[in-house]
Amino acid sequence: MQEEFALEDGDFRKISKLVLDTAGIVLSDKKRAFIHGRLGRRLRALGLSDFGEYCNLLETNAGEDERLNLINAITTNHTSFFRESHHFDYLNKVILPKLVQSNADPRRIRIWSAGCSTGEEPYTIAMIVRGCLLPLHGWDIKILATDLDTNVVSRAVAGVYDAERIESIPDTYRKRYMTVGSDGCAVMKDELCELITFANLNLLGGWPMSGPFDVIFCRNVVIYFDKDTQRRLFDRYAEILRPDGWLFIGHSESLLNVTDRFDLVGRTIYRRIK
Ligand SMILES: C[S@@+](CC[C@H](N)C(=O)[O-])C[C@H]1O[C@@H](n2cnc3c(N)ncnc32)[C@H](O)[C@@H]1O
Repeated sequence: MQEEFALEDGDFRKISKLVLDTAGIVLSDKKRAFIHGRLGRRLRALGLSDFGEYCNLLETNAGEDERLNLINAITTNHTSFFRESHHFDYLNKVILPKLVQSNADPRRIRIWSAGCSTGEEPYTIAMIVRGCLLPLHGWDIKILATDLDTNVVSRAVAGVYDAERIESIPDTYRKRYMTVGSDGCAVMKDELCELITFANLNLLGGWPMSGPFDVIFCRNVVIYFDKDTQRRLFDRYAEILRPDGWLFIGHSESLLNVTDRFDLVGRTIYRRIK
């Protein structure tokens, strides 16, 4: 069957370059079908007849909004509550007890969820912080949650999840930190929301915050970046973390041959050493 829109080599290269330069995301030749599927919807929405017209639009000043839509369409936003749950056990049992001692003066903790997608990761962090049995009452605790994709940030801010998505949340947390409606949809409670600041941020661009962060979660994000982009990013993470701060990465990611500024202290859990 003939495809609705033909994707010529030249157009694929233009789109890949734009995505790489803007977001750091590498689109190899194997991603042609993926691009075709994701962007075919954009062409239909815009009433365009081929990818050539789409590329022409992207190159003009009037294409600014569409460049944003393109990036939003290309990002992979898969996530879930308590994903890779050993990370949250480690946060609860190892990191928070250490921070209660080391940060006793000024009683301040800063955590960054970088590449937070639709918010499940920062809300999980907030549940752990709130549920922590340590004396954190009266502490200044903030979780910064950022993503490049403006659509997912809006969904994260709304904090509404359907019944299927909240299944991975242990019962005690579900009962305590969300209001579940008769349709099974859950709304995150204020005591979680007030800990989190959501923002749209491209990790490749400037960072308006000064840090230092005690902990950074950057999980299942750099998997789409080339090694040089990863090197630059992890170097910046080391700079914005406190000297012995923690970094969590995704299950299929590694810092081996990328940076020597972190020491492996657990399964995909690192600590800054330089
Ligand atoms: C697969 S999700 C991971 C979500 C969550 N961290 C987790 O592990 O469940 C990857 C997220 O990284 C974001 N992302 C990709 N490139 C980015 C960039 N250059 N700057 C900021 N976020 C980016 C995507 O928009 C996407 O929401």
